[in-house]
Amino acid sequence: MSYYCFLCHPKYHPKSSPEPKLRVCKCVVKVKMKMWLIALLLVSVTHTHAEYSSLQAILSQKGLQKVTHWLTDWVQDNLSNITPPDIKGKAFLFGYTLHSMSIQRCDLPEPIISFLEGTGVSLQVTGLSAVITGKWNSRFGFTTDSGEFELVMFNVGFKSLLKLGSDRERLSISTVICSSDVESVQMNFSGGKSFLYKLFVKLFNRGVKQMVQGQICTDIKAGVNGLESHLAAMPVAMMVDPNVYMNISLTDSPLVKNSGLGLNVKGEFYSFKCPTEPPFHPSHFEMPWQKDYMVSVGASEFCVNSAAFAYHHAGVLNIHITDDMIPKACPIHLNTSQFKNLIPELPKKYPDMLMELQLYTTDTPLFSVKKSVILANVSTSVKAFAIKTNYVAIPLFRLDMETSFIFKVYIDKQLVKGMLVMKNLTVTLGASEIGKFQTEPIQHALKSVMTSFVLPKVNAQLKDGIQLPFVKYFSLKNSVLTIEDGFLALATDINGPDSGNL
Ligand SMILES: *[C@@H]1O[C@H](CO)[C@@H](O)[C@H](O)[C@H]1NC(C)=O
Ligand SMILES: *[C@@H]1O[C@H](CO)[C@@H](O)[C@H](O)[C@H]1NC(C)=O
Ligand SMILES: *[C@@H]1O[C@H](CO)[C@@H](O)[C@H](O)[C@H]1NC(C)=O
Ligand SMILES: *[C@@H]1O[C@H](CO)[C@@H](O)[C@H](O)[C@H]1NC(C)=O
Ligand SMILES: *[C@@H]1O[C@H](CO)[C@@H](O)[C@H](O)[C@H]1NC(C)=O
Ligand SMILES: *[C@@H]1O[C@H](CO)[C@@H](O)[C@H](O)[C@H]1NC(C)=O
Repeated sequence: MSYYCFLCHPKYHPKSSPEPKLRVCKCVVKVKMKMWLIALLLVSVTHTHAEYSSLQAILSQKGLQKVTHWLTDWVQDNLSNITPPDIKGKAFLFGYTLHSMSIQRCDLPEPIISFLEGTGVSLQVTGLSAVITGKWNSRFGFTTDSGEFELVMFNVGFKSLLKLGSDRERLSISTVICSSDVESVQMNFSGGKSFLYKLFVKLFNRGVKQMVQGQICTDIKAGVNGLESHLAAMPVAMMVDPNVYMNISLTDSPLVKNSGLGLNVKGEFYSFKCPTEPPFHPSHFEMPWQKDYMVSVGASEFCVNSAAFAYHHAGVLNIHITDDMIPKACPIHLNTSQFKNLIPELPKKYPDMLMELQLYTTDTPLFSVKKSVILANVSTSVKAFAIKTNYVAIPLFRLDMETSFIFKVYIDKQLVKGMLVMKNLTVTLGASEIGKFQTEPIQHALKSVMTSFVLPKVNAQLKDGIQLPFVKYFSLKNSVLTIEDGFLALATDINGPDSGNL
């Protein structure tokens, strides 16, 4: 019988030393190994074929209309700041330039905008009228002339179809169709001195309608191209804080339905320090499309756990506890004398000394998102030190703790609120420099500290609520947060900026 040995990482053997050195750890019979290999292959095949998103966002038709409304308001407010591009051209033998244009008046009707299933967005504007003033220059041979003009356009309209797709895991946008129509244009020239001026005006008036009509789609395409360059330059990693970032690349092409636009985002967190993949995998989830809310966002259990994994690996889930951080009323204080009943050996060895604790996660806190609640298992260790008067820390012992929590979260009055309940807490002695001692009294004391001091404090804060994070000038309204099976879902409307604040 032949044996196959393979290497494995000590990480999956919690009792081994924390140094990441490889060691031979298991031997398996050949037959068994083959079955394993097949199973592993199957798993890896299914994994390479589906990169599941763990963050999903949906902009509904209602949301699209609102966004368009804000943009229309913004354009209307900023017309005086918009300088139409110069127009250079030739009419007969005249070279001319229209420049220094400014929009004097514009009646911008609300655009008709809608998602078009499978394609993108259809945009239509009708009945736009505008008055533009500017200057003109003309050239005929060596003769130049110049003056002012006023241009009035009536009943301008355009229709455009924009395609939404993905390019290198980012959202992309392009113009598929654009057509424009101008009912009539009236142009008044003034200021010309030369005899050629009258000739120029006659020639020019004829072509101006076609010119304006053509310019509209040129401008729209340029605008869409500008937007596309912005999207193409957008990073696919979003810095969350100095410790972790989130990969926000798209896992699929955007899903365009008549009722909205759905984006599937990778949504995985990584620590900057150690950007490794977690030992668990995302699974498929599908957020329901809520057409009554402008925006919906869903985060899967994997998204939450990858955040926990990233923070754990960034090494930030640890806290140094000193006695002055503990409220006076708390029954446990960090003073060796007061541990008399819990650990009788301690004050005998180190009487009357202050203590400090180092509390840290020993493994990734794991969350499970079940219908209406979030369950969490947290493995932590606490190292205790006695502090000599010269600030030298003497290691005393290490306790390993397994804690499980039930967490509820909801939105009330636009604040995220919640409630945390401790389900279980077990304490074992991990290491001791002061000899073995019983952990039951400590476990009992810690449970009572948690339930009568820590949790009430945390819950009081959770009840007060935390402001929903959002972008400047925008705020959320009518938000609903639900805990579904395997994911959290937020459906919300958005309050726009006051005009002039965008
Ligand atoms: C053109 O100028 C005339 C008089 O100078 C004025 O009555 C008319 O309203 C102007 N038309 C436009 C379109 O500006
Ligand atoms: C994000 O994930 C995608 C898909 O797995 C990958 O191609 C890309 O390199 C990742 N980007 C970053 C910055 O991690
Ligand atoms: C420890 O607590 C005792 C009383 O329980 C107190 O007399 C003593 O001063 C404390 N020691 C330190 C170092 O704070
Ligand atoms: C937490 O631990 C319990 C008991 O070990 C287990 O049944 C449960 O699935 C774990 N939950 C999570 C979210 O890992
Ligand atoms: C608490 O956890 C321990 C071991 O982790 C288990 O034996 C015990 O049954 C759990 N208690 C409850 C109330 O879940
Ligand atoms: C748009 O107009 C607002 C005031 O209505 C102004 O504060 C803002 O700077 C303008 N933006 C641009 C790009 O001109």
